[in-house]
Amino acid sequence: MELERLDRILAGSGMYTRSQARDLIRAGAVLVDGTPVRRPEEKIGRDRTVTAAGEAVDTARYVYYMMNKPRDTICATEDGAYPAVTGLLPRALRARRLFPVGRLDADATGLLLLTDDGAFAHRVTAPRSDIPKTYRVLADRPVGKEWAATLAAGVVLEDGTAYRPARLTPEEDPCRCLVTVTEGKFHEVKNLIAACGGKVLCLERVSVGGLALDKMLMPGAVKRLSEEEVSLVFRDFL
Ligand code: URA
Repeated sequence: MELERLDRILAGSGMYTRSQARDLIRAGAVLVDGTPVRRPEEKIGRDRTVTAAGEAVDTARYVYYMMNKPRDTICATEDGAYPAVTGLLPRALRARRLFPVGRLDADATGLLLLTDDGAFAHRVTAPRSDIPKTYRVLADRPVGKEWAATLAAGVVLEDGTAYRPARLTPEEDPCRCLVTVTEGKFHEVKNLIAACGGKVLCLERVSVGGLALDKMLMPGAVKRLSEEEVSLVFRDFL
């Protein structure tokens, strides 16, 4: 295992600034596997148990969270009209500078991944990744019988924008359906439904790859993902 400076690991947890981390270490308040380590430059593996001032320190290099994105929030930096989803994160996570993996429209809700792992975010969002993302759609009219075939054939808009074939599954409510896309182009689901002659009234992302939105997660709340849950994103597509 790669060894890293203790002050870096402590600051990287988002709990302390680098200088606070150094002060705590020098004061003997940081224990590694129960023993005080007083040199900020001491190198340790991330598999060690670290506490600072009696609190457990999260030594993970990267963290992965699921948010149930609420309506009227944006996935980019705040634009004045709507607050950014990152502003909803608890303080320690904001300090870790998590960012959203891909974008959901301001009016869209549901499963949003947040991480500080750029390579992971790229793997999930790259068009060639082919990871299916499934959305629950409420349309302004009953889902037409021909909509599934239209989406399955691949839609091309008048401006030449071409969408890969997508899957539409009607739900019990005649105005609701599930739409699964693999690209994640701007307004993709709304444009696909518009190409069928409908309008999306509500859009909720319910899964990314094999990872489903936790139905217990309140809008705006986040949940840390286990390694297994993270790997589901690339596996067992729903
Ligand atoms: N498709 C859309 O139209 N909007 C989203 O936010 C995601 C997919």
